[in-house]
Amino acid sequence: MTIAHSEGFTFDSWRGAVRPWLAAGHKAEGLVWQDGSNQIKAASADCEPNCVQPAVGRLRLPRVLMSLLQNLACFRHPSRWEFMYRLAWRVLYENPRLLDDPADPDVANAVTMDRAVRRDLHKMHAFVRFRESAGDDGTVCYFAWFEPQHEILRPGAVFFANRFPNMCWTIATPDGAAAWDTKAIDFFAPRALAERPREDINEHLWRTYYRSICNVARINPSAMQREMPKHYWNNLPEATEIASLLRDGAARFAARQKQGDHENFTAAKSLQRSLAQAQVPAAGIQLCRACDLWKHATQAVEGEGPKSARIMLVGEQPGDEEDLRGRPFIGPAGKVLDEAFQAAGLKRGEIYLTNAVKHFKWEPRGKRRLHKRPGVGEIRACNVWLLNEIEAVKPAVIVALGASALTALLGSAKTVETARAMDLNLPSGVPLVASYHPSSILRADAERSAILREALVGDLRKASSLLAPHG
Ligand code: URA
Repeated sequence: MTIAHSEGFTFDSWRGAVRPWLAAGHKAEGLVWQDGSNQIKAASADCEPNCVQPAVGRLRLPRVLMSLLQNLACFRHPSRWEFMYRLAWRVLYENPRLLDDPADPDVANAVTMDRAVRRDLHKMHAFVRFRESAGDDGTVCYFAWFEPQHEILRPGAVFFANRFPNMCWTIATPDGAAAWDTKAIDFFAPRALAERPREDINEHLWRTYYRSICNVARINPSAMQREMPKHYWNNLPEATEIASLLRDGAARFAARQKQGDHENFTAAKSLQRSLAQAQVPAAGIQLCRACDLWKHATQAVEGEGPKSARIMLVGEQPGDEEDLRGRPFIGPAGKVLDEAFQAAGLKRGEIYLTNAVKHFKWEPRGKRRLHKRPGVGEIRACNVWLLNEIEAVKPAVIVALGASALTALLGSAKTVETARAMDLNLPSGVPLVASYHPSSILRADAERSAILREALVGDLRKASSLLAPHG
């Protein structure tokens, strides 16, 4: 009798294959496992070739054992399948509390293997770098090459499907590739390395970003390499910057110490400390930690548009697509806005578009990230960035889309209906036109949506008319 899988086991195929043997109570020692030519076979030592496979009885594996086995299945070692069988057998037939005994050699091994796989998964989440490429039909796709230490592509890919559900991406590894088409993950055999894109148009931006957020004063090379083992550097575009950052950092430190510039040094340190807590515009918006929204967002999304724009339009916060691509109003709400601009005789390219809050606030709903309204605390925390933009652009008129934008600009909560009925100005005197948020147009039923759309177009026209020189 053999249990075979033409392309080696996955956790599920292993489970299906060993199930009858486990249910019938066959000891691990009674099975002979073979691993060759990408095939793993198990043969029963006590059965001759025509031995009948035992009938599947009831087999319930405890949940903790199942999740442990799932991780062990990823551990790169030819005898892991056999080891997993022995562990499962021992829990089922020898000691149901086996996993509570850390002194047991099998349990100790399992813990070490489990830890190694978890660590590798964690590294995959942190170190996969997608590069933009064009799909066959011209759509934007993302490609990442990653070399994990263990066979973690399957569980690792699930994380990325949840994280980037709206992007088409492929993650290729030496063991095979996973491709997500926004609906399902397809796993396939390894491809030639030559096919992977080496660089994309965003690469230099990413390197520049890395240089600007990397705090050289705090780099501890050995701690850094523990967290970011050199093994992964090959596929990290920012790794090309590390050597020079370390050199610069060391030189700057040495010079500072030579001068005995102790005061500056402590000042720099305390600045670094406050950067972590406070809003310090000079540190750059990507370092903002003034509220907790940065923790779950991909990036801060700054405003976009000419610095000479006469109209500034303020929304609420970036949505899912804006968060991923780093630009405001490029998702469904942006489409509504584009149509409204056109109807009002305005061009997107001449307007400065921004948001009251720069990080995407969301909650998970299945595979999707659902927009969550920012709180007043978050709006206030982000106000410094919006004020900076107003200061830099000096618009002649500002349009506030929705209640969050009104709160950010007026400092107090007003409904859109109330604000639309008023003539509003910022304290600096800049006229403020209130209007409906395009997302509320998308959410409304057809009849209300048409009314809100018309109101938005009217409000944009009003903003435009405020620019005209008065006679
Ligand atoms: N909604 C907003 O308020 N802003 C965006 O950038 C996108 C959606």
